This record gives sequence, structure tokens and C-alpha cells, in this order.
Amino acid sequence: MATTVLPGEFESGIASGAVAGDRRARGLRRAIAPLMTVRGLPRWLFWTGAAITLLFVVLAIFAPEIAPYGYNQYLAHGIRFPQQAPPSAAHWLGTTVVSEDVYSRVIFGARTSIEVVVLALMFSVVIGVPLGLVSGYFGGWLDRVLVLINDSIFAFPYLLLAIVIAFLLSSSVGGGVLTAAIAITVVYIPQYFRVVRNTVLSVREEPYVEAGRALGARPRTVMRRYVFANVVHSVPVVASLNAADAILTLAALSFLGIGMDPSVAAEWGYDISRGVADAQAGFWWTGLFPGLAVILLVTGLTLVGEGINDTFNPLLRRPNHRRFAMPKDAREATTAAVEMERPVVRVRDLRVWYATDRGPVRAVDGVSFEIRERETLGLVGESGSGKSTLGRGLIGLLPVGAIRDGSVDFEGRDLVKATQQEMRHLRGPSIGLVFQEPMTRLDPLMRISDHFAEVLHTHEPDISDAEIRRRSLEALGGVRIPPTRFRNYPYEFSGGMRQRIMIALALVLKPRFVIADEPTTALDVLVEAQILSIIADLKNNFDTSLLLITHNLGIVAESCDRVAVMYAGRIVEQGAVSDIFSRPEHPYTQELMRSTISLSTRKLHYIPGAPPDLVDPPPGCRFHPRCPQAMEVCRAKEPVGVEIRPSHLAECWLHGPQDEIPPDGRRPLEREEIGIADEA
Ligand SMILES: Nc1ncnc2c1ncn2[C@@H]1O[C@H](COP(=O)(O)OP(=O)(O)OP(=O)(O)O)[C@@H](O)[C@H]1O
Ligand code: SF4
Ligand SMILES: [Mg+2]
Repeated sequence: MATTVLPGEFESGIASGAVAGDRRARGLRRAIAPLMTVRGLPRWLFWTGAAITLLFVVLAIFAPEIAPYGYNQYLAHGIRFPQQAPPSAAHWLGTTVVSEDVYSRVIFGARTSIEVVVLALMFSVVIGVPLGLVSGYFGGWLDRVLVLINDSIFAFPYLLLAIVIAFLLSSSVGGGVLTAAIAITVVYIPQYFRVVRNTVLSVREEPYVEAGRALGARPRTVMRRYVFANVVHSVPVVASLNAADAILTLAALSFLGIGMDPSVAAEWGYDISRGVADAQAGFWWTGLFPGLAVILLVTGLTLVGEGINDTFNPLLRRPNHRRFAMPKDAREATTAAVEMERPVVRVRDLRVWYATDRGPVRAVDGVSFEIRERETLGLVGESGSGKSTLGRGLIGLLPVGAIRDGSVDFEGRDLVKATQQEMRHLRGPSIGLVFQEPMTRLDPLMRISDHFAEVLHTHEPDISDAEIRRRSLEALGGVRIPPTRFRNYPYEFSGGMRQRIMIALALVLKPRFVIADEPTTALDVLVEAQILSIIADLKNNFDTSLLLITHNLGIVAESCDRVAVMYAGRIVEQGAVSDIFSRPEHPYTQELMRSTISLSTRKLHYIPGAPPDLVDPPPGCRFHPRCPQAMEVCRAKEPVGVEIRPSHLAECWLHGPQDEIPPDGRRPLEREEIGIADEA
């Protein structure tokens, strides 16, 4: 076969065109992917609405082919249709007072409605969205003027406004699809403007937008790349809900005889207005069917809007958590615990799973441990190992869709079985929580004094103002914030100070057990040292027990009595800090320690591979794909907890139990056999 050599630019043009086409197709696939994977009610809403809407779109496009007659046709083959004839085989939905076929008018009415709505939405989006973007991003006088204009339009009763505009346009350019579309557009522009502007106002100060500016991006690029992408997702929802509203507005205009010229197109509102008089005379069919068409199309578009909202807004997407249940018998999936006398907290077989569309994420999968009075247990592990989930799982502060089982015994009460109300009473006075990233957790509109007052009032409603002040200043003094700053707003403090304030807020009620999730992340070493000494004081002054979640082994060495090492939802090793740091027994702990950076570090060590996907963790030992000492047994059987030395437990086949290892189980696994060579 002969081949044609394309000139270079043609070739590259075609190639780049193909690449662009490919990219577009990928983008489209990514954009509609949530619609394909969504389940439950949102799926039902969206697809029902889409089917109804699609039906009307098909009717609109193929109206001349589907309708037996024209919208204003009253005779065929020279014979006039009967007047106000009831539904029959010849005229399925009957005829009107001027002998028009109702069925044909309903179908052509769909065409008019869809045309007007599409045009109105296009105009409103094309004008309202850029105005909102520019106004919100640049602010200043331009913003003020645009806000004033749009708010004035918005404040006007929308139907009245549409009537006035349609009336003015009808008298100058005549009634028709364009007139009706413009009248509706003017009504809806302020809605897009307000939604987009308000979203831009909150997005433009986000750190990632600031990062874009810091990289030297021009305002146009920042707006397009960083801001637009983050605000545009609200537009389809507003558009689909507006579309439903626009159908009603159009019907109302036509009902009043404004906007649409009945000789130019069929319109449901106009037919309904004529049908009202007909119905009183007993001719119910002329108004009923156009009315039903309005209701059906409005319902379809509303369902699409709600479905899109529920599907694309991740906060509204609720994975179907009835699709999974934790297996009842958790014995095999349980880490062993050091048994202590009179622990403050005793956790047994705790599992916390998140429901996702891919299946349950087994973030905490059968852990057991104990914490004594005045003891600090450090919880360490790589990012994503389940540390925060464990901390939150202890006090039931989990997102919707998370389920947990096992037991968390706190002062004789099982927190897993406690009611929401019981937990509310416990959180604060008995159990305090210092969040990961506390810098973002103070309400920017409340003074520090208000934060303290709210916490104290919630748990001690009769407390006096003087007592609030005394206790708050005492707690602030504990974290070395001077009393002169008591009435400041959060933004007036540095990051480290805000972090210390969060700790003071958690301590003001003197809880007996505190969970501190990465309390020193992102702080400099001096502030970090301050916070660690505050934590040490806390233990000594208030007899507090502490779960200190961190990935910093230095902090554990400094501040903890015992340590639990977490990997992929399991506690793989636990024991006294001095014991584990001097003789780590689990290969993961050993690797973690080798990865720690100190002043003497000359060559960085890292653990090859990545933590596993917790939807489908590896069989056997979860660390086996990355473990330098993995054996045959490790990929076949889950290791069980073994007490290596008193109070020192590890979950690793290297430490037995020997009699449970099959005869060929000790054969070392080659890297190639476990497939991490590529990742490493
Ligand atoms: N709301 C959620 N829905 C689904 N999965 C989640 C959710 N929150 C966390 N996860 C998953 O649970 C696992 C554990 O997350 P978690 O935040 O507990 O880890 P972590 O050890 O605290 O990590 P880091 O050190 O980065 O804070 C991760 O795989 C994470 O992707
Ligand atoms: S059980 Fe096997 S794979 Fe797991 S840590 Fe121990 S030696 Fe490594
Ligand atoms: Mg965390």
C-alpha cells in the first residue's frame, strides 16, 4: 500500500490534534466518572431526571417528525379538524377551540421551552460567571458597582422583572423565542454572579491560590487555572435548577400573554391559559396535557439538578455503608496488648472502617492497647497508617459512613457502646482532643476569650464570668500565652501560639485523658520543645494520661513512656520507649528508626515501596511486600502478637510462635517474588 509522507507541520499538527483530542476525551471521562460510579438515591435522582429531560429534548429536536400535525394546523387534506373534540384515535389528546391538535401542540411546546431555556442558560452563564469571577477576584470599585447592579436586580420580584423586560422587548422587537430568553436571562444573571463571586471570595485566599501567585502566575492564569476550576463546579447545579425555574417563568409569561407570540410558536403556558376557560366549560383536555408537560419537565430538570449536586459535591456524597459489615469474629485480626493493672484506657480489638465507593477502607483493623494513669503512649507510623483514625475512633468522632467495633474501656465505660449524648458529656471534661492542624480549627470571628467561654459554658452552664476568666487565664498561662492576649482574635497570633491555644482549650476542663494528634507538626524546634514541656507538665500537674500521635520518633523518645508502632491499620509493635528504641524487634520499626534523620545522618534511608491500599491490604503480614526479611509464611498467614520481653509485644513471624510456622515457611522471599522492585 502506498504511503503519503506528510509535511512535518501537518504531521505534528495531526499528532498534537490527536493528543489534544485524547486529552479532551480523558477530561470528559474524568468529569462524568462520578455519574457512572454514584450509587443510591443520588443515582436514582439523576438518572430518572435525565431520562425525563432526555425525552423532552428528543421531542424538541424531532418535533416535526414526531408530531402528526403542525402546532397551528387546524385542517388536513382540506378538511377542518373538529373543534374541542375529546381525545380519540384521530387526535390522541383531543383538539382545541380553534381545531388545533393538542398532542402536536404539546410536542412543539417542548421545542419552544427547550429552545428558550437553553438560550437563557447560555446567556446567563456566559455573562454571569465571568462577571462573578472578575468581581470576586479583583474586588475594589468594580466589585462594588457590579454587586450594586446585581443586588438591585436580585431584589426585584423576578417574575415582575421578567414581565417588564418581555413587555418592553415585545413592543420593540416582537415576541418570540429570543425575547423570552432575554427576559429570563436578565432574571438569572445575578444568581450566577452571586454564586460565583462568593465562591471566588473564599477561594482566592486559599493557600493554593496564593501559591500560584507566589510562582509568578499572571492574574488571568491564576483565575483560569486555580480559581475558575474550583468555583465552576457549582454552576451545573445552579444551571439545572434554574432550567426548571426558567420553564415555569416562561409558562407564566406566556400565561399572561407576554413574551411569546402564539402565532410564532406553540407554548405550554399560553395553552394552559386558554385551557382554564375550556375546563370551566367541560373541555378538560386542552389545558391538562400542557400542564402535565410543564410539571414533568420541571420535575425532570429538578431531579437532574439534585442528582448532580449529590454526585459532584463530595460532602453530599454518602457511600452506601450498608454494603459492608465487619466480620463478627475479629479474633484473628486482633493485635495483642500489654496487660496492665488499672489502666485508664483499655482498647480491645478496635476496628474503624470507612465506607467508600471502592469498598471499606480498613483504616484501623483490630488494635488493642492500654494506657495507665499519668502515662504517655506515643503512636507512631507512616502517613496513612491509621493513627488519626484510631485517635478519633476512641472517642467516636468519625465522619458519616465510618463504622467501628471492638471496645474502648474508659473508667469502666465502653465508649464504643456509649450514646452520642454520653460521649458529648465525656468529651471535654474527661477526654480532651488536640487536633492535627489545630491552626485551622479556631473560629476566625471569635476572640480567644469567646472560645474559652464557649467551652466552659457548654460543660458548666452556671459558671460565672469571673471564674471563666480565671480558669482561662490559668490554662493560657500553662501554655505560656500572656493574659494581655486574652481578647485577641486568632489571626493576631502566630501559628505556634494558635497551636498552644488549642492545647489550652483542650486542657481548661482538666480532662483525665488527652488525645493529641500531631500537636507539633509544622512548628519550629523551639516551639516544639515548649509544647513538649507543656505536655510533660500536664502529666505531672493533672495526672493526665496521654495518647500522643506523631510521626516524629524524637518526640516519642523525649516525651513518651511507651510507644505503639502502627502500620496499615495494625499495631505491629508496642512496649516501653527505652526497650523499643534500644532493641526494636519488628522489621518495620527497625526500618522506621533507620529512616530517622539526625545531625549525624550522612545518607538518607527510606523504606522501599509504599504503604498498602487499605481497601485491599496484602494477605498475611501487611508489611511483607516491603519487608527486607519477609519469608514464605509472611505472605500466607497473618502474624500473631508475641510477647518478646516483658511488656514488649511484636507481631512478626521472626518471633514466632514457632510451632505455627509451616515446615517450608522460613524460606526467605526474593524481592522479585513480592513485586516491589519497581516501586523501590
Ligand atoms: N473520611 C475518610 N474516608 C475514607 N478513607 C479515609 C477517610 N479518612 C481517612 N481515610 C483513609 O484511612 C487511612 C488512615 O488515615 P489516617 O488519617 O488515620 O492516617 P494517619 O496515620 O493519621 O496519617 P497522617 O500521618 O498523614 O496524618 C488512609 O488510608 C486514609 O486514606
Ligand atoms: S511477619 Fe514477615 S514480613 Fe512481616 S515483618 Fe515479620 S518478617 Fe517481615
Ligand atoms: Mg493523621
